[in-house]
Amino acid sequence: MTDHMPDDLSAVGRDLRAYTDELRPRHPVVRNVAGEWVLLRHADVAAAALDHERFSSAVSRYLQVPNGLDGDAHSRYRELIERYLSRDALAPFVPVFERVAAQLVAALPKGTVLDAVSDIGAVFAVRAQCQWLGWPAELEPRLLAWMQENHAATRSGDRAWTSDVAEQFDEIVRSVIQPRRAADDNALDDVTTRLCRDKVDGRLLTEPELVSILRNWTGGDLGSIALCVGVLVAHLAVQPGLVARLRRAPDSEVEAIIDEVLRLDDPFVSNRRITTCPVRIGGVDIPGGARVKLNWTSANRDEAVFGSNRFDPERNAPTNLVYGIGKHVCPGRLLATWELRIALQALLASAQTIELAPDDPPEREVAPVGGYHRVPVVLT
Ligand code: HEM
Repeated sequence: MTDHMPDDLSAVGRDLRAYTDELRPRHPVVRNVAGEWVLLRHADVAAAALDHERFSSAVSRYLQVPNGLDGDAHSRYRELIERYLSRDALAPFVPVFERVAAQLVAALPKGTVLDAVSDIGAVFAVRAQCQWLGWPAELEPRLLAWMQENHAATRSGDRAWTSDVAEQFDEIVRSVIQPRRAADDNALDDVTTRLCRDKVDGRLLTEPELVSILRNWTGGDLGSIALCVGVLVAHLAVQPGLVARLRRAPDSEVEAIIDEVLRLDDPFVSNRRITTCPVRIGGVDIPGGARVKLNWTSANRDEAVFGSNRFDPERNAPTNLVYGIGKHVCPGRLLATWELRIALQALLASAQTIELAPDDPPEREVAPVGGYHRVPVVLT
């Protein structure tokens, strides 16, 4: 550590991306008000994510399948989960997502101000997820209201509120799985039903395991997809050249461009670990049992790896950490990538131009959330 270590990265009211850009050149590691050690540099974040022995994922007192598990327990559940998120398993949903996206953008009013996060990203995320998991469309308003409250609770840092909101989500999940677990016929054949009938170690998954898996697939994802849509639209609205390139690009290039925009402005800020022994990382001694945060947003902008952070999808793809690295690397990457590409292509097909709303600039999210809170745009 070269300099005095700032003791507050919670940075209430600040844009985390800008703040970590300021800190990173002088401080590889900072401590926040919660006493967590926050890793800011690419090399350290990647090293900790790859070091599963010394950086454990068992950070929560709640059951978190698979993200809160280590070792063999993690591998067993991970293998089960990956079956639902493979290319073959997801391919049948591509036309479904295309239909959801086309219907959504067709209904968006032209020539008036819309918010890309709540009017486009959140609605698309909820509809696509309900279709994928086989959840009833009637849940849409409840899930949208939940997403808003979840964001507000996370921003507030109020733990009682955050855990109350988490419990509300678990109730939604239980309302979906209970009838599916009780049904002994094959009337329903959707992803959630299949998961309810799936086995680990030769036995059915328990209700808490099912709730945890589905919470991870939806709770985490809905917010991230909505925030990613906000980031993408905010960038496109000020880069007509990129819009023109995307209109001509094949799917693989669109996906690479999305990854690179998200690298530069990663709204999925961080994940936690706990040290199993004393470690030295980024030149800093961290004791055993310490809470550590891997800050992906900062690592993804580290000058030591990305130089001046020039937009370059091809060059930066191998070191991009938007979906993590190591055993816990995001198993939902393909689903997220396809959903984002399909949403973006539908938007570009339906709108001739996407412009920022006059006199109403995008509003950044503030710590501990990344990306944008609102992105007011006008489509023509
Ligand atoms: C744009 C959207 C998304 C982003 C940026 C994202 C990012 C990440 C990252 C960085 C991790 C690593 C966590 C760690 O190392 O502790 C992760 C893990 C995970 N993600 Fe995603 N994710 C996204 C969407 C999704 C989707 C759509 C799903 C599933 C439906 C999903 C399911 C998971 C699960 C289950 C884990 C935990 C994996 C494990 O512990 O083995 N994610 N995600």
